[in-house]
Amino acid sequence: MAGTGKKVTVVGAGFYGSTTAQRLAEYDVFDTVVLTDIIEGKPEGLALDLNQSRPIEGFETKVVGVTTGTDGSGYEATAGSDIVVITAGLPRKPGMSRMDLIETNAKIVRSVAEQVAKHSPDAVVIVVSNPLDEMTALTAMATGFDKKKVIGQAGMLDTARFTNNVAEAANVPVSSVTTLTLGSHGDTMVPVPSACSVEGKPLSDVLDQAKIDELVDRTRNGGAEVVALLKTGSAYYAPSAAAARMAKAVAQDSGAVMPVCTWVDGEYGIAGVYLGVEAEIGAGGVRRVVERDLSDSELTGLKAAAAAVRAKQADVADL
Ligand code: APR
Repeated sequence: MAGTGKKVTVVGAGFYGSTTAQRLAEYDVFDTVVLTDIIEGKPEGLALDLNQSRPIEGFETKVVGVTTGTDGSGYEATAGSDIVVITAGLPRKPGMSRMDLIETNAKIVRSVAEQVAKHSPDAVVIVVSNPLDEMTALTAMATGFDKKKVIGQAGMLDTARFTNNVAEAANVPVSSVTTLTLGSHGDTMVPVPSACSVEGKPLSDVLDQAKIDELVDRTRNGGAEVVALLKTGSAYYAPSAAAARMAKAVAQDSGAVMPVCTWVDGEYGIAGVYLGVEAEIGAGGVRRVVERDLSDSELTGLKAAAAAVRAKQADVADL
């Protein structure tokens, strides 16, 4: 099918990037998925492999693999992308926090963002490299793009982890559970129990407070739990699912409301920071931030998250 006529580029062909490219191609709504990496032959090999899966999976989207150089060579193949997903950067090792990656990944993400701005000046950019809130802010800075067009992926993933945790604890299908997390993709993540329900009933009617607290904690440490088990590398199935859904919402101009890392400009009484909130996603990126009623403690948590990431986001300008 491949119907939207859109071109999406995924920068970084590691675990996160390659699974994102696979999901995007299998949606069969893009004309082209470009996959890039600095490791020679890796994106080309993965693209060939993905294209060979087309007759079996039944999709027409063409996957193009390109090795890029640190001088920007190869980026011509990404030119005119409607959407660019940046996954380039190191993942965590066991015991590391996402913030431990900031210096290394800032250099990588900055150089990628500059090339993206040069070759795809009209793109919506979805950032997934960690530490997420800071790398999103850095990408906005380095591209010079309108902030509505630079979005980070974290909230959908954290929310999915929360939903999975609740569904398992309550022994119900994931489809009957609604949860929400806002704030940062890290220690100041804000799970929002007031927005959570199981089969339409408030979460507090279904699980006791101690259990909810335990699930909130597990959600906050959801990424570290996977890293500790894998020992090398970090999660990518759920993260790529979230990033790909965001890209699809942009490609289809769907107006879907999802928790994303976006520029907050007065909503919830917070301004001038990239933060995880709900937003309506369309062809131009974020159409608008969607505010909801939060409890006092949830709002306090969101403001604390904003304060924590604000200082770090200012620091990345110098990295
Ligand atoms: N341009 C393109 N690709 C790059 C660049 C660059 N400048 N620098 C590094 N890469 C590539 C690496 O060669 C590697 O193939 O990025 C890829 C990263 O892949 P993995 O090591 O498998 O890491 P992954 O699990 O995909 O995570 C990527 O997402 O969730 C975050 O914390 C995670 O920051 C990490 C990112």
